[in-house]
Amino acid sequence: MTINTRRQTYLAEKQDHRKELKHVKIDESVIEKVDKLSLPQKRFYRQRAHSNPFSDHQLDYPISPDHMDWSKLYPHFIDSEKKELTKEVTIADIGCGYGGLMIDLSPAFPDKLILGMEIRVQVTNYVEDRIIALRTNHTKENGYQNINVLRGNAMKFLPNFFHKAQLEKIFFCFPDPHFKQRKHKARIVTSTLLSEYAYVLKEGGIIYTITDVLDLHNWMVTHLEGHPLFERLSEDWESQDKCVSIMRYATEEGKKVERNKGDKYVACFVRLPIPEII
Ligand SMILES: C[S@@+](CC[C@H](N)C(=O)[O-])C[C@H]1O[C@@H](n2cnc3c(N)ncnc32)[C@H](O)[C@@H]1O
Repeated sequence: MTINTRRQTYLAEKQDHRKELKHVKIDESVIEKVDKLSLPQKRFYRQRAHSNPFSDHQLDYPISPDHMDWSKLYPHFIDSEKKELTKEVTIADIGCGYGGLMIDLSPAFPDKLILGMEIRVQVTNYVEDRIIALRTNHTKENGYQNINVLRGNAMKFLPNFFHKAQLEKIFFCFPDPHFKQRKHKARIVTSTLLSEYAYVLKEGGIIYTITDVLDLHNWMVTHLEGHPLFERLSEDWESQDKCVSIMRYATEEGKKVERNKGDKYVACFVRLPIPEII
């Protein structure tokens, strides 16, 4: 069998499981039928490192947050009588890549719904398969029911998914640096996008950023400090916040930087109230 056919066979099998289990409440009764699943192997899901956020991808997105059916993503949290979700997503990992952050946040915030948004198809498929496998392997403690991923372009459609002030935390972990000056407009933090992030984030909510690229760190800090609805949090605050320690080590990029003994630059910002008009 060639490597390509092996990959295709592997992905076809995973796709079957994905179709069957993606929107299902995975509990002991499901496990009796499907058995435990092995964690997906990243090498089969590789895709070009960058996806152009300005191209017209074929993306599904709701016309407004009220049209979004979240119950498919978090079936464990459906109220069986009302047939609706008992809570809404309040934590978002933007550009979640292979999903490592969500997997560590899940047990740290068992009562919160956490969403990863990722633009690349194969990477999103990997995260879906990873979550399905984790759910099937942790049915006893209902593990990993509070995380899920959506394929989406966060630079275009965030207000289609989230209501005003819905989110408590937004993470930007090791975002694509877009080094060349003419590509800076593709960076995930810009003044215009910050106003969208401020819209979906509640007062007192936090934006977390981490990168190994000093130029990008300075760019994000300058833009966030220049925005009237964000204020930087102190290093003392960072040292006491559990999400900061999780995001330093949980993500796949973070682990790579760790292995290469690179630097990691962190900056966190609180969403301020809208100033009164006098
Ligand atoms: C360098 S990776 C970091 C992944 C992950 N956060 C980590 O730390 O391992 C950046 C990720 O952001 C995704 N991405 C880039 N632009 C995006 C956008 N506009 N919307 C959603 N995801 C995006 C990329 O596909 C990529 O997986």
